[in-house]
Amino acid sequence: MVRHFLRDDDLTPAEQAEVLDLADTYRVDRLGAKPLAGPRSVAVIFEKNSTRTRLSFEVGIAQLGGNPVIIDGRSMQLGREETIEDTSRILSGYVDAVVWRTFAQKRMDAMASVSRIPVINALTDEFHPCQVLADLQTIRLRHGALPGLTVTYLGDGANNMSHSMLLGGVTAGMHVRVAAPEHFQPAPWVLDAARERAADTGGSVRVLSDPREAVDGADVLVTDTWTSMGQENDGRDRARPFRPYQVNAELVAATGVKTTVLHCLPAHRGQEITDDVLDGPDSAVWDEAENRLHAQKALLVWLLEQSA
Ligand code: CP
Ligand code: NVA
Repeated sequence: MVRHFLRDDDLTPAEQAEVLDLADTYRVDRLGAKPLAGPRSVAVIFEKNSTRTRLSFEVGIAQLGGNPVIIDGRSMQLGREETIEDTSRILSGYVDAVVWRTFAQKRMDAMASVSRIPVINALTDEFHPCQVLADLQTIRLRHGALPGLTVTYLGDGANNMSHSMLLGGVTAGMHVRVAAPEHFQPAPWVLDAARERAADTGGSVRVLSDPREAVDGADVLVTDTWTSMGQENDGRDRARPFRPYQVNAELVAATGVKTTVLHCLPAHRGQEITDDVLDGPDSAVWDEAENRLHAQKALLVWLLEQSA
């Protein structure tokens, strides 16, 4: 059966741990294993901008001995009248896996619905699961075992990073808190899925509006842009409601514990996070970005093995 990674809970807790273990081996030895030698080809398609995702997949696939085929989705026939399903059927005939950054999650689901090869979500409006795999690897490297740790996400609770941290975090057995203003809280269907998964792992989910209460005792603070790709012209006022959720020195101190700060990047310095925190000793953002490389290599190899 072909395996896809469309959202974080597509991996069971045991499978997620297996992928993270493999990711740690790639962190130590970047160039040793060549499981994609042949080479096997992977299409990596972007309908939105990218720096980290594009680079880490392209470099990672090459390091595995494979052939990365990077495509601007806006230049494909997909951008005209060709359907997602027909595009997917074509991709299955040429390459061994497809990595796609697009808009609505239902587009990702349509790609996977007829695909004979693994489909990997490289960011949709609803989820960013590859990022959260790298985040979990980063947290594990700093704090040891993930189960029982508390992670607080601050900012746009309705965006892809918040949703993925909820699903990926509880899959790892963590207690996930989301601190967000009214009208920017996680989608109820994502909270339901996260609570269902948490019931199996001992994790938990809480949505709060008070940022200080949300960070109390938190091992990890996570934030993200207040304006995600595609929302630039939606006319919603974000600066005012989001300001209390800025990750700054005062909020880091309010954790009362030694905490780790993550941000998937790109950062908007002075908005969701201040320079001193981003560049300070609690920040793990550069490791986090590097871990995209290791985590995605592990995910790709694991999905291809499972789908063989
Ligand atoms: N964090 C992340 O996905 O970065 P890019 O948008 O640069 O790929
Ligand atoms: N929430 C952000 C993440 C960027 C990596 C966005 O979707 O633009």
